[in-house]
Amino acid sequence: MPRARLVAVGSALPERRLTNADLAKMVDTTDEWITTRTGIRERRIVDPGQRCSDLAEAAARACLEKAGTKAVDVDGIIVATITGDQLMPSVANLVQHRLGAVNAWGFDLLNACNGFVAALSTATCFIESGRAKRILVIGADVMSAIIDYEDRNTCILFGDGAGAVLVEAGDSQGHGVHGFELHSDGGGAAELALPGSGTVPHDAKAAVFQNGRVVFSHAVRRMAEVAESCVAGLGLTGADVDLIIPHQANIRIIEATAERLKVPMERVVVNIDRVGNTTAATIPLALAQADADGRLHEGTRILLVAFGGGFTWGACYLTWGR
Ligand code: UT7
Repeated sequence: MPRARLVAVGSALPERRLTNADLAKMVDTTDEWITTRTGIRERRIVDPGQRCSDLAEAAARACLEKAGTKAVDVDGIIVATITGDQLMPSVANLVQHRLGAVNAWGFDLLNACNGFVAALSTATCFIESGRAKRILVIGADVMSAIIDYEDRNTCILFGDGAGAVLVEAGDSQGHGVHGFELHSDGGGAAELALPGSGTVPHDAKAAVFQNGRVVFSHAVRRMAEVAESCVAGLGLTGADVDLIIPHQANIRIIEATAERLKVPMERVVVNIDRVGNTTAATIPLALAQADADGRLHEGTRILLVAFGGGFTWGACYLTWGR
C-alpha cells in the first residue's frame, strides 16, 4: 500500500491586521483579557472583495512552487472550509480552474475546525487505495465574513487565512501518514454553530454562536484524548513526537494537550498570537510557520490534532517529507 507523504506546504494571509487594541475600540474588552484568556494578540482580516477562494488559490500556488510540482500533475483538490465563496460551486472547483489543474477533480469538505485533519485523512485514503497520486489538501477560511463584530464572545477569537499541503503517493515504508483518528458527537451541535448558514429559516445574518465555556471543556478533554489515543494506536507515546501542530483556538487548550502527552511547549507549534483562530486553516498555517522557522525536516515526527463545532475532533501522526 502506498503511503501518503506530505511533501510541501504553502500559506496565504491577508495583509490587514486586527489587533486587540483595535477590538477594544469596537467592543467591551481589553488586550489583557484577550491575551490571558486566549493567547491571541492580533489576527488577519481580508479586504473587501477578497474571498476564501483567493486565499486558497494563493496558498496552493505557494505550495506547488515549493514542491516543484506543476498544477497539471495534481489529481485532486480537497478544500476544508466553512466559508466558501458560495455553497456551489465549491472552492476546490474555483481553485482547480485558476491553477489550470486540468487533470484534477475537486470538492469541499465541511468539518469546521477539524476540517484540515478530515481532509488530510480523506486524501490519505485516496492515496493508500491507489486511486490518486497527488492531492492538494487546503484549509481556508474567511471567518470575518461570518462574525458579528458586536459580539465580544466571538469577534476576538477569529481571523482569516489559508494553508495548503501537497500529498503524494510514496513508498509503503517511507515517510508520510502513519495513522489518523476521527470522531464526532452531534450532541454538541447547539454549543458552536452558524445559524442562518443553511436552509433553515433565520431572521438575522448568519453569525458564529459559541457557548465558550462548554466548548472549552469539551475541547480540552477531546484534544488530549485523541492526541494520546492516535499515538498509542501506533504503539507510540509523546516521546515519539518531535512537533505537535494543534488547532489554534486557545493557548490554554494547546497547553493542556501538550501536557497530557508530556510534550514540552518547545515542541509545540504556536502561532495563535499572530493569526488567531482561522478554523480549517489553523493547522496548515502552523505547518507553514514551522517550515518558515526551519523546524520541518525530512522525517520530522508530527502530530496534528484538532477540535471544532459539531462536535468534531481528530488527530493524525505523520513523518514529514519525501
Ligand atoms: O475552534 C473551535 C473550538 N473552539 C474553542 O475551542 C474555543 C473554546 N472556548 C474558549 O476558548 C474560551 O471559552 C473563550 C476564550 C471563548 C472564553 O474564555 P473563558 O475563560 O471561558 O471565559 P468565559 O466565557 O467563562 O467568560 C468569563 C467572563 C464572563 O463574564 P462574567 O460572566 O464572569 O461576568 C464573560 O462575559 O469574561 C467575560 N467575557 C469577556 N470579557 C472581556 C467574555 N468575552 C469577553 C471579552 N472581553 N472579549
